[in-house]
Amino acid sequence: MSDELPPPPDIARDVFTGEAWDRAEAFAELLAGPGVVRGLLGPREIPRIWDRHLLNCAVVAEAIPPDVRLVDIGSGAGLPGLVLAIVRQDVTVTLLEPLLRRTVFLQECVETLKLENVEVLRGRAEELAGKRVFDVASARAVAPLDRLLKWAMPLLNEGGELIAMKGERAAEELAEAEPQLRASGARTAELVTVGHGKVEPPATLVRVIAGRAPEHGRRRRRR
Ligand SMILES: C[S@@+](CC[C@H](N)C(=O)[O-])C[C@H]1O[C@@H](n2cnc3c(N)ncnc32)[C@H](O)[C@@H]1O
Repeated sequence: MSDELPPPPDIARDVFTGEAWDRAEAFAELLAGPGVVRGLLGPREIPRIWDRHLLNCAVVAEAIPPDVRLVDIGSGAGLPGLVLAIVRQDVTVTLLEPLLRRTVFLQECVETLKLENVEVLRGRAEELAGKRVFDVASARAVAPLDRLLKWAMPLLNEGGELIAMKGERAAEELAEAEPQLRASGARTAELVTVGHGKVEPPATLVRVIAGRAPEHGRRRRRR
């Protein structure tokens, strides 16, 4: 398999428009170069950087409301958070990642791409509970849905949304997470597909709207 970054597919021009185009090209080079050299992305991913990584993540923007504060949990090399920041300048993005090597790479990308709507934060999602709140939490390939709910729901405003990129097992994971959905006081949970006509197959997301978390340990009334 070739380790050359392939030219972007034509559809990329429709997805990354205006200023986003130069940034997307530069990010593709950063992923294929330092991203691979420093072990953040496998070399076999290079031929798939545009379709599997940049385009698949960019179409998630279809599910994100305007002008929100978004936290990308377990951002890794910036997927999907950094791509979302490139295509959605109205969104303020926090890239949350515990590993130093990865946060250093992310910070370098933010500076090289001159992105002013991105903050890189080193830490674990469960450590951020009670300290910060966001309107949207995104995640790709970080944890099964039930664990992701435990980490993400405390970070969301009431009415905020978790957007988990989940692929083929999305429906199964949603069913398995039923107890955790109830426990976390989720208002709704549904499957959403995005990227029709842009990525093949369209990307499957689980979207969970946060409600108010049920109160635990409430004292029982004595009879
Ligand atoms: C398989 S990688 C996926 C990275 C990226 N989202 C992607 O799709 O390429 C999982 C990432 O989640 C991070 N992670 C693991 N546990 C975490 C936690 N508790 N809070 C936040 N991030 C976590 C890891 O450090 C790693 O970068």
